[in-house]
Formats: sequence, C-alpha cells, structure tokens
Amino acid sequence: MISRKTRQYLVIGGNSRLGRAMCDQLGDDVIVKTRESLDITDFDTTREVMALLRPDVVVNTAAYTDWIAAERDTDRCWETNVLAVQNLAEVCSDLELPLLQVSDARVFGTTPEIKKPHKERSATDAVNFYAQSKLAGEAAITKVARRRGLKYWIVRTSHIYERPWRQSREPLYRLLSVGKHAEPVKMVHDVECSPTYAPHLAAAVIHLMDVRDKVRSGIYHIANKGVISVRGLGLELIRNSGMALTVGTLDTAALCESNGLPKEAWPRYTALDTSKFEKECNYTMPTWREGVKAYLADWKG
Ligand SMILES: NC(=O)c1ccc[n+]([C@@H]2O[C@H](COP(=O)([O-])OP(=O)(O)OC[C@H]3O[C@@H](n4cnc5c(N)ncnc54)[C@H](OP(=O)(O)O)[C@@H]3O)[C@@H](O)[C@H]2O)c1
Repeated sequence: MISRKTRQYLVIGGNSRLGRAMCDQLGDDVIVKTRESLDITDFDTTREVMALLRPDVVVNTAAYTDWIAAERDTDRCWETNVLAVQNLAEVCSDLELPLLQVSDARVFGTTPEIKKPHKERSATDAVNFYAQSKLAGEAAITKVARRRGLKYWIVRTSHIYERPWRQSREPLYRLLSVGKHAEPVKMVHDVECSPTYAPHLAAAVIHLMDVRDKVRSGIYHIANKGVISVRGLGLELIRNSGMALTVGTLDTAALCESNGLPKEAWPRYTALDTSKFEKECNYTMPTWREGVKAYLADWKG
C-alpha cells in the first residue's frame, strides 16, 4: 500500500461507485458511512457523527444520482444534493474539517459552438433537475466558505463506470457478459463526455486529499482525459476485448421523450478539461482509453 499523509478519511456514500473504489484503495485509512449508517438528510445525526469522528478529511460521494427519477422526485433530490450538502458544509466549517464534494460535468448543459472540454471557469447551464441540484450544491458550499470559512474542493467528474464485477446493471458489464446471447446492448451515440473509470477517479481524489495543504479551495475537474461518446466507449471496449460483439445505438432525444422529458434534458457535451487539477496537484490523469484497458484488465483478473 502506498504511504499516505492522511490517516482518517471519512467517505460518505460508501456504497457509491466512487465510494467503493476509494475504500478499495484506502484500506485501513478510511471510515466508511453508507446511507444505512449515515443518512445525510438527517442533519442532526450528521452533525453528531462528524463531531464524534472528527476525521482529517470528509469526502462526500453520496448523492441523488438518478437524473430521470429526479425530474419527478424533486424534493428528495434537492434535500440530498443541496440541503444536505449545505448542512455538511456548515458542520465542516464549525468543526474545521476540510470537505471534498463530488459534482457532475452535467452542470454544463448546452453544447458549446466550438467543442472543447469544459474548464472550471466555463459557463454552466443546468438543463435538468439533477444538474440544477448539483449546481446548487456547489453554490451552497461556496456560500458557506465565503460566509464562515471552509477549506473545500468541489470535484466535477464525468460518466463514472465501476469495476466490472461491481454493477452488473452497467451497460459496459452487460455488453461483455450478455452481449453474445441477447439483443445487442444499446448505448447513446450522441453524448460526448470524458468517461471515467472509478478506480482512476478514486486515486486522483485520494491524491488531491494528500496534497491538500498546498491546494487552494475551489472547483477541480477530474476525469479520464479525452472525449468520446458513450457508444464509442462501448465500441472501444469491444475492440480491446477481442470479442465478436456489437453495440446497439440509442438516441438521446428518443430516450428523453420515452421518459416524458424534453429532448434537450440530457446534456450532449460534458467533456472535462483536467489541466487545472493536473498542474496544481502535479498529477497525470489516465486517458479514457487507459480507463477501458484498466477495466478489461480487471475483468480478466
Ligand atoms: N455516476 C456518474 O456517472 C456520475 C457522473 C458525474 C458525477 N457523479 C457524481 O459523483 C458522485 C458519486 O456518484 P456515483 O455514481 O459513484 O454514485 P452512485 O453509485 O449512484 O451512488 C450514490 C450513493 O449515494 C447514496 N445516497 C443517496 N442518498 C443518500 C443519503 N441521503 N444519505 C447517504 N447516502 C445517500 C446511495 O445510497 P444507496 O446505496 O443506499 O442508494 C448510493 O450509495 C455523486 O456526487 C454524483 O452526483 C456521478
């Protein structure tokens, strides 16, 4: 295990894709709280738990992430992604604990005229309720930081996919495991992003925490580098796997409409520019192709 400065991470949302990848890498250095042991919408308990534990760093990976359900379940989504995040920020501020909050590249809703990965200062434009809640969660943290002081990092990331054995519902997993026998798995062809392999994201977040004394508070983009469509990711996986499989095509507008949503509700271009994080933290993010290779190595291993 690599040597680390930080001994006590508190990872909230320990059952998330990112949370599980972090726990895999942190070994004994982590205190994990899943929703069962800490529901962040229970504000008083959250305060009590944090005061009791007093970790060196708090990493919040918990969120209401089902963006389609969020359109109807607005209260619960807002409570989790905004009010609970504000409470966490206030508690961290009171207890002088640094807070790392995970946000989403889908705060960029409109495709730019010239397609270039979004930088931290690029204009945001949340086009669905989930994205609005993530953006409001970011704003809640920066407001607490301005008003009351708080060391914080908001990490925006893009299209997380998990280690193969973890989530059999994920399209990449289904692609390799059932693709030979069933209808081809369909993947959206018109969403370009920076798909990010959870263990790569986890390693980068852990690094950010380890060098945190030298890193300013603020927003950081962390994702596997490069731009590809979701379907393109599936095709690359197949190419590298050597299997004779196909990927079906799903159209975003059709998917939105079949869920009763406006056809623009799914952001089409959410690629991230990671250069600020890489420069300030002296770190090199693997590319999305390296993410695919690591995924396949984990599959075979
Ligand atoms: N998935 C993506 O493609 C993506 C892309 C960009 C950014 N993000 C952001 O990255 C972070 C991690 O995402 P992920 O995909 O790893 O998450 P995920 O796998 O969807 O898991 C979310 C976790 O949050 C937990 N949770 C929900 N409400 C909670 C509450 N009130 N209290 C405590 N825990 C609660 C859930 O608990 P249960 O297990 O009990 O449901 C679940 O384990 C989130 O902030 C997300 O918005 C995700």
